[in-house]
Amino acid sequence: MLHATCYMKLLVTGGAGFIGSNFIHYILKKYPDYEVVNLDVLTYAGNLENLKDLENNSRYRFVKGDIADYALVNKLAGEVDTIVHFAAESHVDRSILDSKAFIETNIVGTHALLEAARGNGNKRFHHISTDEVFGSLETGDPAFNEKTPYDPRSPYSASKASSDHLVRSYFHTFGLPITISNCSNNYGPYHFPEKIIPLFITNLIEGKKVPLYGNGMNVRDWLHVEDHCRAIDMIIHNGVIGDTYCIGGNAEKTNKEITYKILELMGKGEESIEFVADRKGHDQRYAIDFSKIKQELGWEPTIAFEDGLQQTMQWYQDNPEWWTNIKNGSYQEYYKKQYGE
Ligand code: NAD
Ligand code: DAU
Repeated sequence: MLHATCYMKLLVTGGAGFIGSNFIHYILKKYPDYEVVNLDVLTYAGNLENLKDLENNSRYRFVKGDIADYALVNKLAGEVDTIVHFAAESHVDRSILDSKAFIETNIVGTHALLEAARGNGNKRFHHISTDEVFGSLETGDPAFNEKTPYDPRSPYSASKASSDHLVRSYFHTFGLPITISNCSNNYGPYHFPEKIIPLFITNLIEGKKVPLYGNGMNVRDWLHVEDHCRAIDMIIHNGVIGDTYCIGGNAEKTNKEITYKILELMGKGEESIEFVADRKGHDQRYAIDFSKIKQELGWEPTIAFEDGLQQTMQWYQDNPEWWTNIKNGSYQEYYKKQYGE
């Protein structure tokens, strides 16, 4: 029998990003008495326009700050009962160009939050991680599960793997009540247009080509962000302390398949594809076996990839201001206008 606590005050880190902002919307809508403090430093990926509708919500507060600021996170951890940690540098290509911020945020920032959770009476801590920590699969290899050994292969995935190890070490050493989730590729609204699905949709709306890396045969497993948020909700309420949960979409696709599907939905032809140089160290395939979370918590994906992709394309077509403000850089002015800095 699963139990849900009746009140939570959450510190959500990275809540101005793609998954974090979807999660804040999801939680405040589902639980009418829950409160959320959103700590986000607003890197290029943080966008307060994602949360515009919550500005006057008394159950929501935004704090601009760095998760690697030990004093700040110690203070904030004292004000909440649960920490849900999304904040990260999240883009593999950027980690190949310059990985310093990945070490500072993903490793040092996670350490600061763990210290803050520990220093405030062992606060409940959920860490959002990725399937990329498990490395790369070939066709026919069994999917990753909670027992798969870590084998990260990019500076991004190595920094996330490092943060996972730190989180687990605080459980074993200090008894910090942690859980970790390792999820496959998300897609949906508010996805920053540097990642393949939003980049390709918005490029095609603009009449541009879509840059497909290498031969386009790398495989990713796609999950709608709302299904991911529901899985996190179940883990923070009913997950076993100290455990890891693998979350996946049961929707493995080659990048070529994704590209052709998007072209078809948008009435474009293959002349819009531009094959470009491959990503360095490009992981071939990710796949997730999510049977543990299905059996223990009753979670499974509910949004079929074809439906989710169609809805996502529609969202980008209906919200041109959101992504054109990103592509022309003016979204970074929004904070200054709203908060006067
Ligand atoms: P994102 O890049 O869209 O958002 C990251 C957010 O973190 C931004 O708002 C940014 O401003 C904030 N941030 C960055 N550095 C910070 C710092 N030092 N202090 C405070 N805030 C900071 O990322 P996302 O795609 O929403 O991913 C969120 C989390 O989920 C990450 O931990 C990522 O590793 C993980 N994840 C993502 C996916 C995916 O497909 N996007 C899949 C699995 C796991
Ligand atoms: O698997 C989970 C991970 O998914 C998360 O941990 C990361 O934060 C998230 O960014 C995502 O990583 P990927 O590298 O898989 O996502 P991205 O959208 O960057 O690339 C998806 C695939 O598409 C990958 O095989 C590279 C390819 N690609 C990507 C871009 C941006 C292209 O072919 N062309 C492109 O322009």
